[in-house]
Amino acid sequence: MNADPKSDNPFNVLFISPTETLKEKALLFLDHHFDGKIDFTYSLTLQEGIEVIENDKKQFDLVIFEHRTTSQSIVKVLTELCSKSAFIMITPDEAVQSSFQFKVTNFEFATLTNFDTSFNKGLKKIFPKASASGNDSDYINLNPDSLLAVAPLFADVFTKLGSGHFMRLFKKGDVFTKSELDYYKNKKGITHFYINKEEYNESIRAQTKKMAELAAQENVPSPEDAKKEVEKSLEIVRDLVSRAGFTAEAQAIAKSSVAVTLKIIGSKPRLATILTDLKKKDGNYITNHSLMLGQIACAMAYKVGWSSPATFFKLSIAAFIHDIALPNSPLAAVDSLANAKASRNFSEQELKLIQMHPIRAAEYTLKFNEIPPDVDQIVAQHHERPDGTGFPRGLGQKQISQLSALFIIAHELIDFSIHHPDVPIETYYEKNAELLNQGNFKKIIQALQLKTE
Ligand SMILES: [Fe+2]
Ligand SMILES: [Fe+2]
Repeated sequence: MNADPKSDNPFNVLFISPTETLKEKALLFLDHHFDGKIDFTYSLTLQEGIEVIENDKKQFDLVIFEHRTTSQSIVKVLTELCSKSAFIMITPDEAVQSSFQFKVTNFEFATLTNFDTSFNKGLKKIFPKASASGNDSDYINLNPDSLLAVAPLFADVFTKLGSGHFMRLFKKGDVFTKSELDYYKNKKGITHFYINKEEYNESIRAQTKKMAELAAQENVPSPEDAKKEVEKSLEIVRDLVSRAGFTAEAQAIAKSSVAVTLKIIGSKPRLATILTDLKKKDGNYITNHSLMLGQIACAMAYKVGWSSPATFFKLSIAAFIHDIALPNSPLAAVDSLANAKASRNFSEQELKLIQMHPIRAAEYTLKFNEIPPDVDQIVAQHHERPDGTGFPRGLGQKQISQLSALFIIAHELIDFSIHHPDVPIETYYEKNAELLNQGNFKKIIQALQLKTE
């Protein structure tokens, strides 16, 4: 596959059919669709086509083949042989098509009875073009991290083949996994994923509505489903923020998401129960840990005796927003700026992003209407440490507020539990006793160590 938009590599097309006129027509349509940039290979029969695939070792972007019978086995061989190609199968009419349901993302049909229309339709489904003006803005680039957090996919996902040209990689409703993301990144060099802008806008409208409805309900019917909706919302908000800042639209989703989170948490959250639920999940670190952070921070606050709805609200909203300015999970998983620098895994620009993300998130909270005043402080201080080794400001324990101190411990506790799933959390308290037994941290850590539940 030609994944580099700037590259002039042609699209590799294998055409299999004994019908000469069909070949000429298809060639004409393909030539027009791909602006003349095609490398066309021609075979007469499926058997011959399979031999070409096996001998040529060429990666075909698109395999078009005529198939007049209902026999599926040879088609199956073909699709397995070219597992990452797209296919258009030409059948005599539509009657046989329903029996060919392969698990191939890009498998479309054309018919001999209505070849021109059906062939072009199939071609455009797999390889859509941006608007006639060649304006690529019909499609928007979506952070792959966001795709991981949203399952099933709310829209078809494409890769860009060249200016104005796209190819479908996943269908709406597919479940996009980390291993698939790694496959496309490492094996195909595809790092940019696109969805249709109109579908994207529609999904935001739908999510805004869904969250407002969930928030308006007395109780959430299924906490697990509600958590998934909050995760999806967080991804949408992160994406919106990265495109246009903390807009009114993003704020509305954030607000209803926090309202739903508070319903999930309830008025008496138990830390032990929540920590038992905390397992290392595959998926998006930012989303998972932001959601867990709200729950753990509230459960800790409850144990410490700060169980007012106002406190729960502050902690939940701070958790939702705290890493919103970061583009991906590896950046969010950094707990020490010094270690991040020493690891040499991050560019100068990324280090700057890591360093400034608490401040940027705090700025976002200030733009939020009706937000309690100290939320920005919690967010700004979430990577500070009582011994002054934190970032961005390297504050000392006296400068870190009580709620921030609680939030910092909650944030660390999540990572500790993820990395040491079988170790009791008391070990965390013991390991950090000296560090945490001071200033505003002292009261919290002492209350947490009491075996009251
Ligand atoms: Fe952070
Ligand atoms: Fe974080």
